[in-house]
Amino acid sequence: MSSMTVNERPVKFDLPPDTPLLWALRDAANLTGTKYGCGVGDCGACTVIVDGEALRSCLITIAEAEGRYVTTIEGLSRDRSHPVQQAMVAQQAIQCGFCTPGIVMAAAALIQRNAAPSKDEIEAAVPNLCRCGVYPRLVAAIQQAGRVAQRKERISAAPAPGISAKDAARSVPAMAAPKTP
Ligand code: FES
Ligand code: FES
Repeated sequence: MSSMTVNERPVKFDLPPDTPLLWALRDAANLTGTKYGCGVGDCGACTVIVDGEALRSCLITIAEAEGRYVTTIEGLSRDRSHPVQQAMVAQQAIQCGFCTPGIVMAAAALIQRNAAPSKDEIEAAVPNLCRCGVYPRLVAAIQQAGRVAQRKERISAAPAPGISAKDAARSVPAMAAPKTP
């Protein structure tokens, strides 16, 4: 049994101690925002924040996470209002979105300790892989997130979760079903 705090709640995982934290989060806690990309520490899709540090959850076991304070993308904000989430949307730094939760967590940990990171500092702290290639927009987004976190800039809040399919189709016409003649 491994005990830790996940998104501010005490959690006990009745799983073998060598279970990767990624699988405990996804399969036992149903926190599927944390993604499985490579499983060997290369892609960063599984990044979560553990005691303030961005870590790849495929590389740490639940035994190693014992007693620690884990935050996943679901716990970062309740309404997608974290500065990194707002800036990622504002800078259109999201395409398919698969890499996004891991990038957001790595960026959130970065601006927590350095709200004005340089391009080089961003590339070092957020080396996550993105198969869609959002990298140039990512630098702009993380720098903007830092300014928002410092209250030097404001971005209107990202859309609330749970937007209806009808409303989504209205704002993104390509999502609407084609009209039948
Ligand atoms: S799934 Fe963990 S680094 Fe790729
Ligand atoms: S937005 Fe598609 S993998 Fe990054």
